[in-house]
Amino acid sequence: MKKLVIVFGICVFASCSHISQRSGLTSRNEVVAFCDRKIHMTMSQMASVTDSMPRNVLDGQSRWNLRPNTPEEWCGGFWDGCLWYDYALTGKQDVLAAATLTGNQLLYLATAPVFDHDLGFLVITSLLNGYRLSPDRATRDTYREALLACADSLATLFNPQVGTILSWPRNVAMFGGHNTIMDNMLNLELLFWAAEETDRKDLFNIAVSHADTTMTYHFRPDGTCYHVAVYDPVTGAHKYNCTHQGYADESVWARGQAWAIYGYTMVYRYTREPRHLAMAQKAADIYLRMLPDDAVPFWDFNDPRIHDQCPRDASAAAIVASALYELSQYVEHAQASAYREEADRMLHSLSTAYLAPKSSHAILAHSTGHHPAGSEIDAAIIYADYYYLEALYRKQHN
Ligand code: GLY
Repeated sequence: MKKLVIVFGICVFASCSHISQRSGLTSRNEVVAFCDRKIHMTMSQMASVTDSMPRNVLDGQSRWNLRPNTPEEWCGGFWDGCLWYDYALTGKQDVLAAATLTGNQLLYLATAPVFDHDLGFLVITSLLNGYRLSPDRATRDTYREALLACADSLATLFNPQVGTILSWPRNVAMFGGHNTIMDNMLNLELLFWAAEETDRKDLFNIAVSHADTTMTYHFRPDGTCYHVAVYDPVTGAHKYNCTHQGYADESVWARGQAWAIYGYTMVYRYTREPRHLAMAQKAADIYLRMLPDDAVPFWDFNDPRIHDQCPRDASAAAIVASALYELSQYVEHAQASAYREEADRMLHSLSTAYLAPKSSHAILAHSTGHHPAGSEIDAAIIYADYYYLEALYRKQHN
C-alpha cells in the first residue's frame, strides 16, 4: 500500500500548456473508484444500445460518440475490454453482467468474413479477456469456440511468400502491394493463444514468421519503427516503408512505437526467443529516451511543433505503461525495476493532468487518433481507457 501511495502521490506537471494541471488521484483506490464511476456512466449510456460501441468523446462533449458494431470498426472490442478489466479490479456483479452481454454482441465475428487484421483487436480485447476473466464456464466455452474460429479467419490473411499478415486488404492498390502495419503485431496474440489452446503449430508458425519478418523490415537501426511496410505479394520482396498515421515517412509516430513495444513483449511471452525480447527492449529503450518530462508522448516525436501546443497521445502512454509492466517480468532485477518505475511514472501522469473531466464518460483525455486525417486530435478515445485499465490491472498482478 505504501508503495502505491508513493507512486500516485508524486507531483508531476505536464509541460504542454493546453494540458490542464489537475490535482490528480492520490491512491490506487481513488484511481479505481474514478474509473469505475466512468464505467458506470458509460453503462448507463449503453443500457439500451445493442448495435454500436463507444468510440470517442470530443471537445465540449461528455457522452461517447458511438460507432456501429461491425467488422469495419476496429475499436468495437475495447468497451467490452474496459468492462472486463473494471470487473477484474472491482469484482462488481453488474459490471460482469454488462461485460458478458457486450461480449455476446461480438460473437457474430466468429462467422463473419474477415475484413482486415483488426479482427484481432476486436476479439482479443473483448472475448479473450472474457475467456480469461469470466467466472462462468459456459461463457468461457462459448468465447473459446468463437476465438478459435476468429484465429482461423485471421490466418487467411497470411501471405507465406511475404511472411506476414496482410493488414488492410482494401488498401493493396493504394500502397502498391501487400501492406503490413506495426499495429498488426498486437493481433498475433490471437494466433499464439489459439496455437497454445489447440496445439496448432501452423498458427504458431504464422505468428512467428510475421514477428520475424516485421523485425527485419519494419525498424530503423536505432529501434524506432515505420508505420507501414509494403511487400510484393507475389515474390515477397520488401518494396518500401511509409507512414499512414504519422507525421512523415521517416518520423516516429508515438502509437506505432507503442504497438511495437507491446507487440514484441507479448510475442516473447509465447516464444521465449531472446531475439523477440531484445526487440521489445530496443523499441522500449529508444521510446523512453524520446519522452518529454511527463512521460506522455507527443502524438509524433518528430512533429516540429513539439515545443508549442503539439497534441499528445495519452493512448500511447497507456499502451506502453501496460507493456512495461509485462516486460519487467522478463528481464533481470535492476532493469525490471527501471521499467516498472517508468510505467508507474506514466500511470501517475495519466492519473493527474490527463484525466477527462468528471462530467465526461471517458477516463482519459488528450489522445490523438488519426492526425493526418484531422480526426480525433486531442480527444478521449476508448482504447486509451482500455490500456489504462489494463495497466492498472497488470500493475497489481504482474
Ligand atoms: N490501429 C490503429 C491505430 O492505432 O490508430
